[in-house]
Amino acid sequence: MADISNNFVGIKSPNPFWLASAPPTDKAYNVERAFEAGWGGVVWKTLGEDGPPIVNVNGPRYGAIWGADRRLLGLNNIELITDRDLHVNLREIKEVKKKWPDRAIIVSIMVPCEEAAWKSILPLVEETEADGIELNFGCPHGMSERGMGAAVGQVPEYIEMVTRWCKANTRMPVIVKLTPNITDIRYPARAAKAGGADAVSLINTVSSIVSVDLDSFAPQPTIDGKGSHGGYCGPAVKPIALNMVADIARDAETANLPISGIGGITTWRDAAEFLALGAGNVQICTAAMTYGFKIVEEMISGLENWMDEKGHGSLDDVIGRATPNVTDWQYLNLNYVTKAKINQDSCIKCGRCHIACEDTSHQAITSMLDGERHFEVIDEECVGCNLCVNVCPVEDCITMEQLPAGSLDKRTGEKVKKDYGNWTEHPNNPTVVAAE
Ligand SMILES: Cc1cc2nc3c(=O)[nH]c(=O)nc-3n(C[C@H](O)[C@H](O)[C@H](O)COP(=O)(O)O)c2cc1C
Ligand code: SF4
Ligand code: SF4
Repeated sequence: MADISNNFVGIKSPNPFWLASAPPTDKAYNVERAFEAGWGGVVWKTLGEDGPPIVNVNGPRYGAIWGADRRLLGLNNIELITDRDLHVNLREIKEVKKKWPDRAIIVSIMVPCEEAAWKSILPLVEETEADGIELNFGCPHGMSERGMGAAVGQVPEYIEMVTRWCKANTRMPVIVKLTPNITDIRYPARAAKAGGADAVSLINTVSSIVSVDLDSFAPQPTIDGKGSHGGYCGPAVKPIALNMVADIARDAETANLPISGIGGITTWRDAAEFLALGAGNVQICTAAMTYGFKIVEEMISGLENWMDEKGHGSLDDVIGRATPNVTDWQYLNLNYVTKAKINQDSCIKCGRCHIACEDTSHQAITSMLDGERHFEVIDEECVGCNLCVNVCPVEDCITMEQLPAGSLDKRTGEKVKKDYGNWTEHPNNPTVVAAE
């Protein structure tokens, strides 16, 4: 059986599945139930500074996007950091860690951007014997308007400064949680590294308004006729998160900085994709909020089975395996030629591929033959874009077939070249022409 035990910046857990800082990790009751279900670790719901507890709205705090089958695709929230007393949280963290020594407990923290505020909370957290801290520089709503969360995460100089304060004032590993609400994730990641961070985690939620009620003309969730932007998460944000993880993993300046991958992870396969792109482990929130803690069972068995099947003995065999295959567009092989092929036996003749290609692509799929509905690719027109594959309702009914080197591409009238050739050397590239 594959070994899925995890060692992330020296923090050990029996598997790479941690619950992200959010309602599932808000209190001992939840965290203990999560550990009973099998979660490898948790990042405790973000703690704020000592004093009167945070106040949340008393009405709806979620908005959502669903697929046609009502499956939850995206979740939007306007919740703030923990609204429970700091000392109650600290006491519970200590108790739970003592009871579950083999599980990872990381404490998420967000206090004002002043050294004294960080200096005063760090010893209190250390006292709990938690395994590490995560600096919440990501929350895009509510707290950011008070100069915390994403307000820090959007300014690399602040990230570096606060990370440095934390490193100077604690022995615990410091994980910096990044906001996706920036233009280029590499700058905040580099700043975290410069400040001495042991790792980064990402993504926190994406700034969003998910919907508008067309009777009240107010954004949802609506509080007494008004709404404010919230933080978006769940399956819909996974592509954004994967891209950001890959950006950090392949940036020369942060190439060896450990990454905890977060964003839309719902299945073992999602998790494996994050690991393959360079994440050392993963964190999950929306999937647990949608399906409950027991989903971790399938994540564990699915990952183990896949690793066994593929002969991957440990997570190190998977982590970062896809990173070298992420490249810039200009290095893609322009001599790789494909054509769509429709399997007539599985085609249900719905016509979706035809209309997509006819109206919005390259007019490369027939609709009729001898007065009958018939869908077939016209090789002379097909550019190999694969739009038809993506709109076809029957899985694997349309496949993309590579033309072998030396064969004729009927669209261009040219033979497929066998050598790799990219844009940087293409004769149509003005910079190539200028250099000659
Ligand atoms: C209701 C809710 C509350 C959250 N609260 C926090 C928080 O207190 N601290 C934090 O760092 N992230 C918080 N998050 C963000 C999650 O930890 C996570 O980064 C995000 O939801 C993306 O992961 P997911 O797609 O698996 O949900 C919250 C998310 C939700 C849905
Ligand atoms: S791959 Fe693109 S161009 Fe070719 S048939 Fe499909 S949609 Fe049309
Ligand atoms: S979309 Fe798929 S099933 Fe529908 S006609 Fe095209 S190939 Fe056939």
